[in-house]
Amino acid sequence: MSIARYYAWLSRFQDAARGLAHDTGQETLTVHRHLRGDDGTVSGDVLHARVLDAVMATGGAPDDVLDAGCGLGGTTFYLQSRLGGRYTGITLSDTQCARATAEAMRRGLGEVCRFAVRDYDEDLTDLLPTGVDLIVAIESLAHAPDPAATVARLAARLRPGGRLLLVDDVPRDTLPWGDADFTGFRAGWLCPAVAADTTLATALAAAGLTVCHDEDLTPRVRARHRAALAGLVLVARAAAALLALTPAGVLMGALLGGLRLERMYQRGVVRYRLLVAARAAGGHTPTAG
Ligand SMILES: C[S@@+](CC[C@H](N)C(=O)[O-])C[C@H]1O[C@@H](n2cnc3c(N)ncnc32)[C@H](O)[C@@H]1O
Repeated sequence: MSIARYYAWLSRFQDAARGLAHDTGQETLTVHRHLRGDDGTVSGDVLHARVLDAVMATGGAPDDVLDAGCGLGGTTFYLQSRLGGRYTGITLSDTQCARATAEAMRRGLGEVCRFAVRDYDEDLTDLLPTGVDLIVAIESLAHAPDPAATVARLAARLRPGGRLLLVDDVPRDTLPWGDADFTGFRAGWLCPAVAADTTLATALAAAGLTVCHDEDLTPRVRARHRAALAGLVLVARAAAALLALTPAGVLMGALLGGLRLERMYQRGVVRYRLLVAARAAGGHTPTAG
């Protein structure tokens, strides 16, 4: 199953669930965790508010931004409307890219919010010839086959003083690779090589980046009662096995992956982290060629 197909099916599911659930991500154009805000609101924009605060606390508004793994474009639109600047969103999904582009046109933002079907592991020099001031990667690094290599490639697109902002599920170093919940999560969410705490810290340092913001958002993630969660895991496992290889099986696998992840939060072995790491202010601006 390719990531593009996976997200095409998830988009259809989001559409189908519209009206049944409060916000499946359509309202905020997000495919990320819906966190609980201080006022009790649960929405895709609660994470956006944390991201905005982190950007402002670590150097202020950027001129040029890459949204690496942009999904439906919600983060790009949220930040652009509050900070201004020019945004480039990339995704592996043509469905997501088409939707984000149509939304940019509808909002009259075609000049400042552009979207492309591109791989963040490719050379992006043609797209961003002089680099960017900020790269945002929300729940997208988890899909990378080699997260450290991806961090290095993205960091190379940063201008001096530029920042890489990551939001992702980061396992504790002590979590065994073969742990049943971890294995089920990686399979259901197509995350082959999730980077644990030390791997991620080492990758950022090796890419010449210094962490300047580190926030644990796990307490804001919805937590179900342990027994209810265990029951749901059993039901979803049976359904995923029955529906394997069908589109519904993909959705069931994604659901099961999410339940496994929730269990890992409860066990305290994975954290949902927001990190900002900055390139030193001196040095060269990325150039074409
Ligand atoms: C969970 S979604 C998150 C989308 C968006 N960041 C959000 O917060 O709503 C993961 C996104 O990462 C993208 N992605 C995964 N691997 C990628 C890659 N190698 N290059 C570009 N995008 C990628 C997917 O296409 C998808 O848009």
